Amino acid sequence: MQIDLTVNGKSASIEAEPRLLLVHALRENLALTGTHVGCDTSSCGACTVLLDGVSVKSCTIFAAQAAGHHVTTIEGIGTADSLHPMQEAFWNAHGLQCGYCTTGMIVSAVDVLQRNPDPTDDEIRLGLQGNLCRCTGYENIVKAVKAAGQAMRENTPRHSVIELMPMTPPIMEPPPTGEAIVPPSTLVGAQS
Ligand code: FES
Ligand code: FES
Repeated sequence: MQIDLTVNGKSASIEAEPRLLLVHALRENLALTGTHVGCDTSSCGACTVLLDGVSVKSCTIFAAQAAGHHVTTIEGIGTADSLHPMQEAFWNAHGLQCGYCTTGMIVSAVDVLQRNPDPTDDEIRLGLQGNLCRCTGYENIVKAVKAAGQAMRENTPRHSVIELMPMTPPIMEPPPTGEAIVPPSTLVGAQS
């Protein structure tokens, strides 16, 4: 069957079996590998995308159910050259370790702030309860979401988000090469 939908603001058309899950359509048909598969059983949240602006686990719905709808993946949240404030905050707050959960975590966190621009720590934890981090970096993830919320409320320029971060643990010195410690690609979904 033909499935027509909008992905990251662009029209897309997929020829697929009705049983194809949205996560596999995104990764395999559209090469958007920033949406990860962690469990395939709706437990981990690594596959989270926005469907008409609301976070959903893309392993829980068929691609056909997204027909006629707008899907936003991590690739549509920000780019390596223009990180979303949430991506910037995850970077600055060390909100990721291996990065596998990160793209889904960021998409969910964006949805959390859409619903509540100034959440408490408990509200952030509640909003992200469907996203699991095997590296258990939850403390810094909460700090990142709070910092992103503050930056977005104040419309702080991206480069200033770092100034809002609670500096625990301290920010590491950049390596001698001057390259970023966390490659922006990790935050925008290049890791598959
Ligand atoms: Fe969808 Fe884990 S892969 S929730
Ligand atoms: Fe490794 Fe979350 S950073 S699973």
